[in-house]
Amino acid sequence: MSSDQQVHEQLPNVSVERSDAVTSTGTFARRRPADLVEPNVDVAIPAIEFRNVNFSYEDKKVLDDLSFQLAKGEIKIILSGSGGGKSTILKLVLGLLKPDAGQIFIDGEEITEFDETELQRVRDKIGMVFQEGALFDSLTVYENVAYRLQDRGVPEEDVEEEVRALLKFVKLEQEMDRLPSELSGGMRKRVSVARALVGNPKIVLFDEPTVALDPPTSGTICDLIIELRDLEDVASIVVTHEMDVVKYLTSEYARIGERGKIEFKDEGQQLCLTNTKILMLRHGREIFSGTGKELIESDDSYIQKFIRGTELLPERAESRE
Ligand SMILES: Nc1ncnc2c1ncn2[C@@H]1O[C@H](COP(=O)(O)OP(=O)(O)O)[C@@H](O)[C@H]1O
Ligand SMILES: [Mg+2]
Repeated sequence: MSSDQQVHEQLPNVSVERSDAVTSTGTFARRRPADLVEPNVDVAIPAIEFRNVNFSYEDKKVLDDLSFQLAKGEIKIILSGSGGGKSTILKLVLGLLKPDAGQIFIDGEEITEFDETELQRVRDKIGMVFQEGALFDSLTVYENVAYRLQDRGVPEEDVEEEVRALLKFVKLEQEMDRLPSELSGGMRKRVSVARALVGNPKIVLFDEPTVALDPPTSGTICDLIIELRDLEDVASIVVTHEMDVVKYLTSEYARIGERGKIEFKDEGQQLCLTNTKILMLRHGREIFSGTGKELIESDDSYIQKFIRGTELLPERAESRE
């Protein structure tokens, strides 16, 4: 299926039942679960793979022999302290930086030696939610989400259909004529998520998506990431240094319940959703790779300090049931 066909896909009308204030009118799943497995998609091929990647800025080594795989439909949470190389990893995925050594594969294709034209084709498969949001201040919410489609020459009525569907997904339909400066930080972040989803990418990168957001607002962003994983079969890298985010993404899941309503369920205190894995870095090297439960139970003293340090963040205020 071409990306244009994907853009014009018909969206089933799915309503949502949630207890928090933001989600009142509805959302959509672009695919129902039965349609999740597309023909010709080889699930054995990772969405992203790093093989023995080294990267330095001049003489400062940032990544040291880093290897990992992100499977299709899964989340990889990358954890480290500030300056740990997380944003650098995302720039390498997008081909904005090239590794000094090692190989990077996107959807089975080695991109390490790709030229700009080939990289652009790969970037079109990837949605990116930048840490700083990177919205155009002078454009409305609608225009911020629409511009990439308009840039590609998609007819305006199709642009409108896609943008409305995406704004509905992030629950910002009512705000589409407003400017970013008129929105809260959480709303601006949701505009960034909608914009990253233009063209229905199967890989989405989130750089510190909840930083500077209050806990309930962080929760709504995490819910969007969970919906993409569980209902849209999107593979994501979520870069963070917040343990609250780790706990949320490793314990909640979304499913389509009765009458097509999206439900969020807590896995309980197990923290072991197997489709969400954590990679923790220190000094550019992997120091942990595994599930949320394995992270919490690790007896590594640095990991325990990291967990405790961020445990001091305020707990989520809202109830999830
Ligand atoms: N363009 C750059 N030139 C030189 N050093 C950089 C550049 N970008 C980042 N760095 C350094 O590389 C290290 C990793 O940065 P980054 O990937 O942004 O870390 P994180 O996202 O985990 O905070 C940091 O020490 C940072 O100062
Ligand atoms: Mg960063």
